[in-house]
Amino acid sequence: MRRIETVRELRRWSEAERTAGARVALVPTMGALHAGHLSLVEHARRRAERVVVSIFVNPTQFGPGEDLDHYPRDLERDLDRCRAAGVDVVFTPGVAEMYPPGGQTRVEVGALAEPLCGRSRPTHFGGVATVVTKLLLAARPHVAVFGQKDFQQLLVIRRLARDLLLEVEIVGAPIVREPDGVALSSRNRNLAPAARRQATALVRALDAAEAARAAGERRRDALLALVRRELAKAPDAELDYAELRDPETLEPARERLAGPALLALAVHLPGSEPGARVRLIDNRVLEDPS
Ligand code: PAF
Repeated sequence: MRRIETVRELRRWSEAERTAGARVALVPTMGALHAGHLSLVEHARRRAERVVVSIFVNPTQFGPGEDLDHYPRDLERDLDRCRAAGVDVVFTPGVAEMYPPGGQTRVEVGALAEPLCGRSRPTHFGGVATVVTKLLLAARPHVAVFGQKDFQQLLVIRRLARDLLLEVEIVGAPIVREPDGVALSSRNRNLAPAARRQATALVRALDAAEAARAAGERRRDALLALVRRELAKAPDAELDYAELRDPETLEPARERLAGPALLALAVHLPGSEPGARVRLIDNRVLEDPS
């Protein structure tokens, strides 16, 4: 496995692979790799002969007062995990490599970036879109793989690849869960022990809504009431949002659901450091039982 730290070297490597006829896949990450990321690598390996994992904690997607400084970092362990997973290249640029000093250009995303996480994190998707565009231009992959846990992010990236005429296939990989159902996230390790136990409320809320929808419930507000009831069982959870939306456009769901609907959740739970809060998200597409 090769470690590359500059855009120039990554581009050279990718171009040589493409010229030799290899398909290249990119898995963008912010490190602190867990089994969820490794499943993205697996998806990438199925679709390409060469896999690049980027590890870069992107400062522009964190708002003021968010957890940039507390975002978990463990590069040596990440490199070991990538090696064991058969990754070909790990791209670990510094901040100045991705954001040359004096930079003035950003990628701005429209309506898809406004609801859900965009409402409480108004600069987040602009930062994600900017860094992902740069990573795609640097690695020139045929395919790039992202987790469906960040469902809105996946839609934003699909849209930016289309809008900016980037020739790349964007693949969404299913959410990987702990044995108790909690979606894997690098932030889980920052939860206080009692909060970690309460984190199961998110998946229970998704399960309850899915079961009700499968049994024929189509009233949006009844489904959301069910979700809030389940979330209320986590006494320390503070709701950011629980919403039903169109899984392609993110338009709000109608009063009576017709067709698949995205149920998206975000809550804050206490972190292990005094006064810290950890924001967890989860989602599921509720299929139309008919
Ligand atoms: O999902 C993430 O880890 C990040 O948002 C991404 C896509 C690597 C961009 O920094």
